[in-house]
Amino acid sequence: MSVDRCIVVAMTTRRTDNGGTAAVEVRGLVKHYGPTKALDGVDLEVRQGTVLGVLGPNGAGKTTLVRVLSTLVQPDAGTARVAGYDVLKQPRQLRRVIGLTGQYASVDEKLSGRENLYMIGRLLDLPRKDARARADELLERFSLTEAARRPAMQYSGGMRRRLDLAASMIGRPAVLYLDEPTTGLDPRTRNEVWDEVQRMVADGATVLLTTQYMEEAEQLANELTVIDRGRIIAGGRVAELKAKVGGRTLRIRPSRPDAAAGMAAAIVEAGLDGVAGARTDEDGLVSVPILSDDQLTAVVGLLGARGYGIAHIDTHLPSLDEVFLAITGQKSSADPDERDPADPEGAADGAPHPKKNVEVSV
Ligand SMILES: Nc1ncnc2c1ncn2[C@@H]1O[C@H](COP(=O)(O)OP(=O)(O)OP(=O)(O)O)[C@@H](O)[C@H]1O
Ligand SMILES: [Mg+2]
Repeated sequence: MSVDRCIVVAMTTRRTDNGGTAAVEVRGLVKHYGPTKALDGVDLEVRQGTVLGVLGPNGAGKTTLVRVLSTLVQPDAGTARVAGYDVLKQPRQLRRVIGLTGQYASVDEKLSGRENLYMIGRLLDLPRKDARARADELLERFSLTEAARRPAMQYSGGMRRRLDLAASMIGRPAVLYLDEPTTGLDPRTRNEVWDEVQRMVADGATVLLTTQYMEEAEQLANELTVIDRGRIIAGGRVAELKAKVGGRTLRIRPSRPDAAAGMAAAIVEAGLDGVAGARTDEDGLVSVPILSDDQLTAVVGLLGARGYGIAHIDTHLPSLDEVFLAITGQKSSADPDERDPADPEGAADGAPHPKKNVEVSV
């Protein structure tokens, strides 16, 4: 990050309640498209130097949020400040400190990869020599050096996406928006992107990342916000969300493999407080959803009293996929084919969400 950018961020952002400094502050943000409430009163904060993961199903409002925060779309109500600049009152200053990788590639097809990056460097007022050096550095980092002189129209989808990411990083932005940056990338390229994002954060950048990949959220994000139909429905650290949504599952391996069914039946019959049931799986383990350590002690005590031997025991937090499903009632898949074709947004009939009611807040 350049020195003047550091100063801008340090001088114009404010301390947050939890000790950090807010690089992005959003309050009561509303954006409606006709009857569609793309954003319906969104509040969020991204602490400086951290990554906020914004998760949500198709049509949740993620891209609209990124567009408002990039000054590309004007909100109907609410406020948003980025690095201290107001999206409505100071759009020009704001644009100078952000980088954006949109959901759809925005490189110039006719220019080569190197020309694209050089042009953006020049647009950002880098001297020619620096613009060339920065272009070459980023081409190298995103494994595009060999293809650097080919026009972007000849690039594969993954190569374009990498070029797009490199373009958003040219000016070493203080705040970077990544809108589903790795959708459609192969695992190796995805890892390259993750490494690069982590490097930028280590250098002090703040990142707002939308994603439908739970693994990506776990890998990169310090905190998560789950958005659905324009509203924030959950938020917090990954471990907090997991603990609040799903509780834990106790997994018990019996000393004698043929005892699993009897164990599960004994737990169900006992009807212990806070134990929602028990089942056996194909690996011969007995799984018991529990709320706290009290149930762990009670289940182990019960099995001991009934004469069952335990070979191994552990507890397991739900995966982030399970968390997402519990909160939104939808799979985390980015595959639109899994939606009802007659209702691609899942909203047309106004029917209530198949949503488990969970109270989760930051
Ligand atoms: N320019 C527009 N005109 C009309 N409706 C729009 C426009 N942009 C977005 N919407 C609607 O606003 C809602 C939110 O869209 P948005 O693109 O922000 O969702 P998203 O969370 O990014 O979805 P995805 O995961 O599919 O990218 C959707 O119902 C969408 O159809
Ligand atoms: Mg989107």
